Amino acid sequence: MIADRLGDWTRSVYCGDLRLADDGRDVTVMGWVHTRRDHGGVIFVDVRDRSGVVQVVFNPEGRADTFSFGQELRNEFVIAVRGRVVRRPAETQNPNLATGDIEVLAAEAKLLSPARSTPFPIDGGAAITESTRLKYRYLDLRRPEMQERLIFRHRLVKAIRDYLDGQGFLELETPLLTRSTPEGARDYLVPSRVNPGCFYALPQSPQLFKQLFMVAGLDRYFQVARCFRDEDLRADRQPEFTQIDLEMSFVRPDDIMAVTEGLLVAACALRGIAVPQPVPRITYDEAMRRFGSDRPDMRFGLELADVSDVARRVEFKVFREAVERGGIVKVLRLPEGERLSRKDLDGLPELVAPYGAKGVAWVRLTEAGWQSPIAKFIDPADRSAIEQACGAGTGDLLMFVADTAKVVNDALANLRLKLADQLGMIPAERYAFVWVTDFPLVEYSAEDKRYVSVNHPFTAAHEEDWDRLESDPLSVRAQAYDIVLNGTELGGGSIRIHRPDLQSRAFAVLGLDENEARAKFGFLLEALSYGAPPHGGIALGLDRVAMLLCGAASIRDVIAFPKTQRAVCLMTEAPSPVDAKQLRDLALKLNV
Ligand code: AMO
Ligand code: AMP
Repeated sequence: MIADRLGDWTRSVYCGDLRLADDGRDVTVMGWVHTRRDHGGVIFVDVRDRSGVVQVVFNPEGRADTFSFGQELRNEFVIAVRGRVVRRPAETQNPNLATGDIEVLAAEAKLLSPARSTPFPIDGGAAITESTRLKYRYLDLRRPEMQERLIFRHRLVKAIRDYLDGQGFLELETPLLTRSTPEGARDYLVPSRVNPGCFYALPQSPQLFKQLFMVAGLDRYFQVARCFRDEDLRADRQPEFTQIDLEMSFVRPDDIMAVTEGLLVAACALRGIAVPQPVPRITYDEAMRRFGSDRPDMRFGLELADVSDVARRVEFKVFREAVERGGIVKVLRLPEGERLSRKDLDGLPELVAPYGAKGVAWVRLTEAGWQSPIAKFIDPADRSAIEQACGAGTGDLLMFVADTAKVVNDALANLRLKLADQLGMIPAERYAFVWVTDFPLVEYSAEDKRYVSVNHPFTAAHEEDWDRLESDPLSVRAQAYDIVLNGTELGGGSIRIHRPDLQSRAFAVLGLDENEARAKFGFLLEALSYGAPPHGGIALGLDRVAMLLCGAASIRDVIAFPKTQRAVCLMTEAPSPVDAKQLRDLALKLNV
């Protein structure tokens, strides 16, 4: 078949928009051959465009050339059809299809582009590996499921823009070729040709620029901002991703949380999902205590309890010694503990090993008391103290991990998620939003042998905690908050330091001396010295919001052209080597 020109044909309607009300209308549709069926002489072709499909009928009683055109069509050919919309005979109506009451009787048709047979069928059915989908992303994106997701993403961004515009926010742009802003990941660097030996960094976030907008008096900024981070990738992380980034002046955390909640209401309304007003809040300390995680999945219970106080006095060495070494012992209580078999219990250590835990001690609470390999090492008074600490009753299964606080929390938090999933305890269609507040300002990095910011170095401490900044930095709480949905961190923000003296003190605690701080962030310190308003903001991961609202398993499914876990674009084969001339122009020599 030879392709024809478009000529003067004009598409009159999207395929998927045709309805019974169009009965009798002459239309021109254009799109891809989705499927073709030959029913004893009559040929039915589903023509697809981004709105959906419509059935086109090629009838041997019509024009001969049109009929033979129908006979020769193959999947994914691009065609144009002129014809009349008619009601389908009752027995062929398809209630599962939006256009299922009608069909288009082809009068004239044109082939606009033939197509080779595709590496996977577009009409679904076959299982396709993700690498094939990514290599042929333009074909993957033809699939209705992917089109729906990207169309949803468009509507989501539109709803968020409209909401923020309505709240008086200004959409302002910040540079992509800039200086590194530390957000904890490695930078992507861009060499400068005209300044040999110098590099721009792609922004990990617009953090400093949005603060400078506040200094400039451009209160209420937002941006749909592309960010770049060279970090280990996971299902919810990409090397480049999009933030809904905002900043406001003269505000407290409550003001930013209220705007964010309004934004989430507007976004979730697109899916008919209710956002509780206000969204519940828990402090970082409480989240760690009850869930072992700073992004707790609150769709189900299975809470943790700290039993270190009892553990320090029991005979069981694993517990006692962990506490003596400064660690903790926590317990995860599973009601109806018989849901885990003996074999499941034997498999527990393997589940927690990736988080550094050396084992899981367990106890079944039966009518006859403790049934457990460790029962003999714990006397009755301590047993009831443990039961009380976690609210245990007959039938429960208790699972303990003893180690450093970090290992215990990581291990039990992940065990909690795995068990909930495995035992079907996560209710479908539940959306559990929670604010996690009062993060610590800094943590100690054993690797770097210094304090590092939990958030970023521009985060303000609680006003009443500032005086402990030097004497007891680990106890200082940040005015920082994360919004969490179903165990995924959607976004995070904080009130910023708006005084240069406090910012210098914060840098000093992080081990940045005056000169280093001036060299890296001199422009910020200087800007703060010209009268900066109190300010703060937040950034939401747009990809993650879209993923959760689409019910997708990975942010790759809501990003048009994502990269693999190895930060590669399988379609363009980026990153790629560059030629010697390019390197010479940039004054670069490779060392690989
Ligand atoms: P933060 O680093 O917490 O804060 O980032 C905000 C949100 O961005 C999303 N996100 C990512 N999404 C996909 N892939 C990634 N690699 C990735 N990294 C982060 C997450 C996260 O919650 N400047 C601060 C915000 C502020 O303080 O206002 C910042 O960037 O959903
Ligand atoms: P062991 O003394 O190594 O024989 O361990 C006795 C029980 O304690 C086993 O059920 C182990 O899985 C469990 N166990 C070992 N190490 C830990 C730990 N760090 N925390 C909790 N339980 C542990």
